[in-house]
Amino acid sequence: MQAKYELVNFKTLGDDRGSLIAIEEGYNAPFEIKRVYYIFDTKEGVERGFHAHINLKQLAIVVKGSCTFIIDNGKRRKEIKLNNPNQGLLIEGLIWREMKDFSEDCVLVILASEHYDESDYIRDYDNFLEEVKNDS
Ligand code: TYD
Repeated sequence: MQAKYELVNFKTLGDDRGSLIAIEEGYNAPFEIKRVYYIFDTKEGVERGFHAHINLKQLAIVVKGSCTFIIDNGKRRKEIKLNNPNQGLLIEGLIWREMKDFSEDCVLVILASEHYDESDYIRDYDNFLEEVKNDS
């Protein structure tokens, strides 16, 4: 799987009553969604993630509040602040991610292309760099 990340703007269905965003395979999400999880009530100062996946597509959406993703492809690190439910951060393949600066009210929803599988995780940064090197 080609490693990539991209901030995507969702098609919205809001009307004068308010906003509504739908996400389905092929509509606002470019993969079959097999798993959904969400991170909330994150304590002050907490940093999470610190891993990459070998074979996973994810779409991260902050539906409330804000947090910052650090996205690292083994060559460059980039900080992306998510604070808008109209946008999602799409992450595919070998990308290291960290999350920080969670607001107290942050609700971070993640849609994933695969079921939970610990063997798909790379939790050691040097192993990640090695995998990137082998992959290119
Ligand atoms: P963890 O990988 O530490 O979360 P993150 O890296 O996103 O901050 O996950 C915390 C715990 O939850 C860990 O024991 C694994 C478990 N878990 C599941 O059982 N299913 C899942 O889909 C996820 C994402 C985690």
